[in-house]
Amino acid sequence: MEVIFKVIRYQDNHGSSVQSYTLNVEPANTVLDCLNRIKWELDGSLAFRKNCRNTICGSCGMKINGRSALACKENIGSELSRLSKISYSSDSDNSEIIPEIIIAPLGNLPVIKDLIVDMNPFWDNLEAVQPYVSTDARNIPEREFLQTPEQRSLLNQTGNCIMCGACYSQCNAREVNPDFVGPHALAKAQRMILDSRDTDTNSRLDQYNHETKGVWGCTRCYMCNEVCPMEVEPMEQISKIKQQILQQKDDSSSRAIRHRKVLIDLVKEGGWIDERKFGLMVIGNYFRDVKGLLSIAPLGLRMLATGKFPFSFEASEGTEVVANLINSVQLETKSSSSLAN
Ligand code: SF4
Ligand code: SF4
Ligand code: FES
Repeated sequence: MEVIFKVIRYQDNHGSSVQSYTLNVEPANTVLDCLNRIKWELDGSLAFRKNCRNTICGSCGMKINGRSALACKENIGSELSRLSKISYSSDSDNSEIIPEIIIAPLGNLPVIKDLIVDMNPFWDNLEAVQPYVSTDARNIPEREFLQTPEQRSLLNQTGNCIMCGACYSQCNAREVNPDFVGPHALAKAQRMILDSRDTDTNSRLDQYNHETKGVWGCTRCYMCNEVCPMEVEPMEQISKIKQQILQQKDDSSSRAIRHRKVLIDLVKEGGWIDERKFGLMVIGNYFRDVKGLLSIAPLGLRMLATGKFPFSFEASEGTEVVANLINSVQLETKSSSSLAN
């Protein structure tokens, strides 16, 4: 079958352009097989990374029809069938149309040439979470650190990460927040927390709790879970760190924790949120954070001026039911976490 590959090419001083290549391919060919043929048979100047051809090294990450993936894992047949499910055509007979596959470099990283991106920001963000088992405060055993099979099995899922960058490329939070370290780094952070040999959990939780650089920067868009070729499920790992932070740290330790705790307290108290108190408690830290209070003062004044500031609060009629519901969930969570411990 014929397929047109539209490759987004980029070269310094020339910006980006789209170049089309038509190949005769088999459905079982991988996208990497096709890129190799383009390079070997049609255009030796096309640049892309590859190594193992086997979903091991993580080198061949790129965007295939907008989805970050490994070129050596995706084959033409499954890619075209995915496309046919998401594209709508009013033309009932499109057997004459040659299918197209659009290939672009990974997102959220500067492009060096064609499909090759500069991975330095990716590695720097990984480094920022201290992705090494701590050796401080440990007595180095004579030969090695032993783990039970159960302790080792806790690391299986996060240990599968091959650092391909697909999650980082697809991360919406990373796109708008240059401080956010990214899903790959936080999945690794959870791997460190789970490691029985690491003694730094407490300081790690403080570090990952820091404003929107760590776990609170994640907007839970699910994209990292969706694209990860190794089923690391970075978003689930981030949620596990959040749970641990919420259990172990009090609400003075970060605005993000106050946000969650105050929200639940206010809904329990009035069935819905009393907006007047919310900002004062979360951003103003119960009147202790003067800088925070000053930062929301202009908004309060604008609301007053436009008649949008609520002077009174009326509790919801269903407050009791809502409060009972929250209490039951909290009780259930508490007992299941004490069982797990
Ligand atoms: S779930 Fe969070 S970490 Fe994952 S892609 Fe979305 S914003 Fe990024
Ligand atoms: S978590 Fe998955 S998508 Fe992200 S770098 Fe690791 S293997 Fe790639
Ligand atoms: S070439 Fe190694 S993962 Fe694709």
